[in-house]
Amino acid sequence: MSLEGLFLTLEGIDGAGKSSHLDAIEARFQAAGRTVVRTREPGGTPLAETLRGLVLEQPMDPLTESLLVFAARRDHVTRVIEPALARGDVVLCDRFTDATFAYQGAGRGFDAAVLSTLETWVQGRGVAGLLQPQVTLWFDLAPEIAAERLAGARLPDKFESQPVEFFRRVASGYAVRAAADAARFVRIDASRTREDVWQQVEAALVARGAFALATTGAAP
Ligand code: TMP
Repeated sequence: MSLEGLFLTLEGIDGAGKSSHLDAIEARFQAAGRTVVRTREPGGTPLAETLRGLVLEQPMDPLTESLLVFAARRDHVTRVIEPALARGDVVLCDRFTDATFAYQGAGRGFDAAVLSTLETWVQGRGVAGLLQPQVTLWFDLAPEIAAERLAGARLPDKFESQPVEFFRRVASGYAVRAAADAARFVRIDASRTREDVWQQVEAALVARGAFALATTGAAP
């Protein structure tokens, strides 16, 4: 299968503010003539949303958690992401596998080699290699500031109620992942004002040719 769409993911620790830019990113692509499939992980299909509820609310060991997020991902990849990319759409996904390496791997201390195996099973596309986002916007914010932003926002889920040390590990997990795939990751300084953060996001996408690609690639 040839995948001609654009797979764009947003990552960062809880409280980094990534989700508040989804509307603007979607609108910017739509203005460039692209169809956007906006989705999230864990989630994005009825089955994956059911698994999301379990992962975010139930206590479980890190292997169970990893299996559930990858099971949700498999359903999401096969039913939503790959078909959308095959149609040439933009897939705008709030978190993907980098979150598993950051949260289950670095945060919960689970074996990264097992996660890599699961990643290959779930995202393997034969000779085409692994399905990966083309661009990942990494909203980088000090865990202490993220914790202040989260405080009192809403009833915290299982991860949001973790101590700041957990998010320090998650943040370093993202840093390791970003260093290992510098061509894909764009670091966004999420400590700045919302407007400044948006400008970083837009500039990064323009620099990657994301909208130009949209203009030339979206011929009727
Ligand atoms: P969200 O609040 O950004 O929607 O993300 C849901 C939570 O799930 C967030 O705390 C990160 C966590 N998560 C994992 O632990 N592993 C994963 O693979 C994914 C995608 C999310």
